[in-house]
Amino acid sequence: MRAGITGTGHYVPEKVLTNFDLEKMVDTTDEWIRTRTGIEERRIAEDDMDTSEMAYRAAVNAMEDAGITAKDLDMIMVATVTPDTPFPSVACMLQDRLGANKVAAMDLSAACSGFMYGMVTAKQFIDTGVYKNILIVGVEKLSKITDWTDRNTSVLFGDGAGAAVIGEVSDDRGILSFELGADGSGGKYLYQDKDYLSMNGREVFKFAVRQMPESSVNVVEKAGYQREDVDYLIPHQANIRIMEAAREKLGIPEEKMATSVKKYGNTSAASIPIALSEGVKNGKIKEDDLVVLVGFGGGLTWGAVAFKYGR
Ligand code: UT7
Repeated sequence: MRAGITGTGHYVPEKVLTNFDLEKMVDTTDEWIRTRTGIEERRIAEDDMDTSEMAYRAAVNAMEDAGITAKDLDMIMVATVTPDTPFPSVACMLQDRLGANKVAAMDLSAACSGFMYGMVTAKQFIDTGVYKNILIVGVEKLSKITDWTDRNTSVLFGDGAGAAVIGEVSDDRGILSFELGADGSGGKYLYQDKDYLSMNGREVFKFAVRQMPESSVNVVEKAGYQREDVDYLIPHQANIRIMEAAREKLGIPEEKMATSVKKYGNTSAASIPIALSEGVKNGKIKEDDLVVLVGFGGGLTWGAVAFKYGR
């Protein structure tokens, strides 16, 4: 047996904010946003829908897909930088809302790489046989820390949630390799300053176009495969130009890369699990496909996982 994904799910709010809407809010254009980032629209949660509510909806969806109920869970982890409150954690709120047993529940802070950190942590508990089913949710309500008067950041982000259940799968499938890393000296490039998110876009861009391709190749090689064996690549959905750098380094065609950044913008810790859940549901990810997930974000942090999909 090996640790792998046994279910996926996601939730995005209904309200759509287009680039044309943003033209009326800050000094920007649809053309600038599309050509510099690949983003066309993003989802914004209503005031009464906080992070834990989006997490709950994605979690229910993932548990249904895995064919388990809350009573089967052994642990809950939530990756987020926008919790409802600093504490109690979103994971504890979610445990209560789901009616799970009194299992371990914690939030995890690794910004946009949070889902990768969560998956790798979950894998350790499954591999050692300690736990059977771990729920991991990546969720953000970035709209509440976005300065809607700042064109440098307001055009980039969106809200949403993605979730996965990590459990035991057959030993020819599941998580084959991973890489996690951090460089705290780059913390100054992406952080929350009092109420709002603040970013040096150019520095983060330089870091990301170097790190994402490198980590993608590393996990493919560690898994014992060739770059072109990758069936589906899910890079953190931040900017299509950065994502393309990873795809080109692997040498795989466009249709083998998730591009939900177009419709959801950058949803930080939620971006990879949303794209994963969509990939499974729309049939882009099939049984036995070799899938690479790769993220980067504030910290600075990064993480990548290579797995064979299926139970
Ligand atoms: O999850 C991780 C989070 N962060 C990221 O992934 C961000 C990584 N960085 C990026 O994606 C890109 O650096 C940005 C999309 C943020 C910016 O793209 P860029 O090609 O690096 O543009 P730039 O920062 O070099 O700015 C070019 C120009 C500037 O004007 P000047 O100084 O050349 O006159 C900006 O003021 O574009 C201007 N600009 C805008 N213009 C219209 C910046 N934001 C906007 C805007 N609309 N929204």
